[in-house]
Amino acid sequence: MRNSLSILAGAAALGLALAGCSAGGGTPDANNANQVEVFTWWASGSEKVGLDALVKVFNEQYPDIEFINASVAGGAGSNAKAALASRLEANDPPDTFQAHAGAELTDYINAGQLQDLSSFYAETGLNDVFPKSLLERLTVNGAIYSVPSNIHRANVVWVNTSVLTKAGIDPTKAPADMDAWIADLQKLKASGVDTPLSLGTEWTQMQLLENVLIADLGADGYSGLWTGDTKWDSDGVKKAVDHYGQLLGFVNSDFAGLEWDAATQIVIDGNAGYNVMGDWAEAAFVQAGKTYGTDYTTWATPGTDGVFDFLADSFTLTKGAPHEQATKDWLTTISSAEGQKAFNIAKGSIPARTDAVASDYPPYQQTAIKSFAEDTVVSSLAHGAAASISWSGDISSAVGKFGADRDASSLVSALVAAAAKALG
Ligand code: GAL
Repeated sequence: MRNSLSILAGAAALGLALAGCSAGGGTPDANNANQVEVFTWWASGSEKVGLDALVKVFNEQYPDIEFINASVAGGAGSNAKAALASRLEANDPPDTFQAHAGAELTDYINAGQLQDLSSFYAETGLNDVFPKSLLERLTVNGAIYSVPSNIHRANVVWVNTSVLTKAGIDPTKAPADMDAWIADLQKLKASGVDTPLSLGTEWTQMQLLENVLIADLGADGYSGLWTGDTKWDSDGVKKAVDHYGQLLGFVNSDFAGLEWDAATQIVIDGNAGYNVMGDWAEAAFVQAGKTYGTDYTTWATPGTDGVFDFLADSFTLTKGAPHEQATKDWLTTISSAEGQKAFNIAKGSIPARTDAVASDYPPYQQTAIKSFAEDTVVSSLAHGAAASISWSGDISSAVGKFGADRDASSLVSALVAAAAKALG
């Protein structure tokens, strides 16, 4: 962990340079108990709209506490994690930061950077309102260290209905598997669509590969990658790498430089047929004024039907947090029924609370609520649930390199080496 934190801290200058300006105004003051400094990467666009919805409920519930927005721009925390690592190393923690449930959170716990929230859970009854599978991903050695705000699904294809219809493809029918989807991508291309599939920067590439791994290995085979039960040079992984390489043949040429929202926008604008993205994309479609089922639709990435590729954002209480009580108040808002409803409707995600009412949510989220309840849940790689920060960093670099050189055997070797390093 030390190593990965130093690497992240080394990259922190870049993260800080890109730091989003805080819309929450003020400067943190350790002597003012009525403040809470909240660190996220929800700095702009539809993600900021989600955060604002949560802050609105917080301001209603705790009108005396000033929310200080310490967001750092960059999807999936691509800059925020480095900036955070440097603050933690400098002993200057924000009161609370966004961390993914699962392996990523475990990194921070093992590094001793978080306070145990077990008694907060007991006092506020939170053990009874979240699903067991989620509580397990937040718990380390019997203690729990963060409060979830939402659950996102990462194996979703966002489909522009008119682009497909014009090419004679039925947008409502998901292709059965990767090969069938690649045949449709080919058809789209042949009909004159230059960018059948839109793609963005490195973490979105890793997320696409993760989707193909789930499709080709199945839920159990994919989950085995994180325990060592599935070998990274197995035929299934090689098949997935081959499919992934074929998919890259259909993407926009400027993919390496695009953040997720710019890549999703290509589909929103009708200049691509498909984008594989987590369901924060729902918020972007809604904010562009598009209607689910008419302008766009979604299905599970071909070959992953029946699987929910899971991630959850959660909020911590740091060791040395200057405003401990105000942070607990923030965590109370996040976990409240009102906070979860306002946030998740705006964010495209589903509530972590089990007492939420599905019919309160828009049609897309209803599909995700159903899938989370019925499907096999696997952990997302690109969003911290499956692998430690250093392991996913190694995979991400290998995937980014493949985007440039398309060398399948060197990608497989790099994936094997990354797993050997992480699993020992
Ligand atoms: C994920 C995060 C989501 C969303 C997305 C894009 O890692 O969990 O809430 O923000 O990144 O930035």
